[in-house]
Amino acid sequence: MSAMITINENYLKLQASYLFTTISRKVEAYQKANPDKKIIRLGIGDVTLPLSQSIVAAFHRGVDEMSHAETFRGYGPEQGYGFLREAIATVDFQARGAAVQAHEIVVSDGSKCDTGNFQELLGNQLRIGIPDPVYPVYVDTNVMAGRTGVAIDGRYEGIHYLEGNHANGFVPSPPEFPLDLVYLCFPNNPTGAVATRRQLQAWVDYARAHKVLLLFDAAYCAFVRDPKIPLSIFEIPGARECAVEFRSFSKTAGFTGARCAFTVIPDSVLVWDSTGKAHKLLDLWNRRHSTKFNGVSYPVQVAAAAVYSPEGQKEVRELTDYYMSNARMIRDRLLSWNLEVTGGENGPYVWVKTGNDSWESFDTLLNEAQVVVTPGSGFGTCGQGYIRISAFNHREKVEEALGRLEQVLGKTP
Ligand code: MLT
Repeated sequence: MSAMITINENYLKLQASYLFTTISRKVEAYQKANPDKKIIRLGIGDVTLPLSQSIVAAFHRGVDEMSHAETFRGYGPEQGYGFLREAIATVDFQARGAAVQAHEIVVSDGSKCDTGNFQELLGNQLRIGIPDPVYPVYVDTNVMAGRTGVAIDGRYEGIHYLEGNHANGFVPSPPEFPLDLVYLCFPNNPTGAVATRRQLQAWVDYARAHKVLLLFDAAYCAFVRDPKIPLSIFEIPGARECAVEFRSFSKTAGFTGARCAFTVIPDSVLVWDSTGKAHKLLDLWNRRHSTKFNGVSYPVQVAAAAVYSPEGQKEVRELTDYYMSNARMIRDRLLSWNLEVTGGENGPYVWVKTGNDSWESFDTLLNEAQVVVTPGSGFGTCGQGYIRISAFNHREKVEEALGRLEQVLGKTP
């Protein structure tokens, strides 16, 4: 027999395609079969407003510098330019009482990549806790790495699912037993739920008591409107010993097409090798990053730094306010139809119970209302019976979508 290229068979344990790829294929097929229908997309959370003025001006400046020999830049530091890391540390963290330093910030091209890649640094025999429902990247990347068995009834052996439901407001509490690695996402994707200071403190206390590493995805923190809700895990005492935080400019500043994000790893987070020797997690991530990543382009980093000027701050607040008015409008309308609704107050997603199979609801809404939503079951088995509606679209599109949705969802007694 001739030699064969074998594959990483862990990939065979995954669903055939990524959630948002499946959705876009279905939508494309529907549009092809119904070319006259006007589809409104409230599925994937992708921004629709353009980059704001001062940010785009900075972007142009960055490009112009690249066109002159005196200011041209080649490879930059893989971890990001100092001017951006300093601005992030000062405005996003220190100004809110979180003692994060610039060297603890590692700039990248996206939080999907960072949350997905981070597990590479860790051992294979971990007890992993992942919320359900949640952004599917955390589960899938651990499956790819071989930390799980096969999926049975939609759940992988080897993962402890932290269940979110109506009773706990989709904010799971720490379990009674120790885990090693826990993913948290607040404001939550997909439910839009937020964790209070007390709830986050309980996670940090649990993590410190059991030497757990918390991977905290805060990609949507700019949408929090309740001043009592922490934006960062580092606003919680003790988090500097046990947590890593992921942040993104994608939804905050309209960078889904421009690409910029960062990960915060405090100097004080330690991990251990098999001999019991401690290592700084930040050193490992820096090692990985400089081997596998070439840095975010200079003009994009200049544009991202402009987010932190007083003007930039005002502009991005206007962007997120716009989407949050959409979110509140969606939430209020659905509540007026007597549906069970979570989110939409401090996060750009509205999570709705339809009571029917999630993919069936997806199909019904596409076929009868030409509105694309995301089926809740795509985020985990606890999402079955729910759909997620995204607030990322133009106001008039959202208004029209709500009119159409009322014809289908508003009929509930
Ligand atoms: C989502 O719709 O859940 C997000 O847009 C996905 C992402 O940010 O990768």
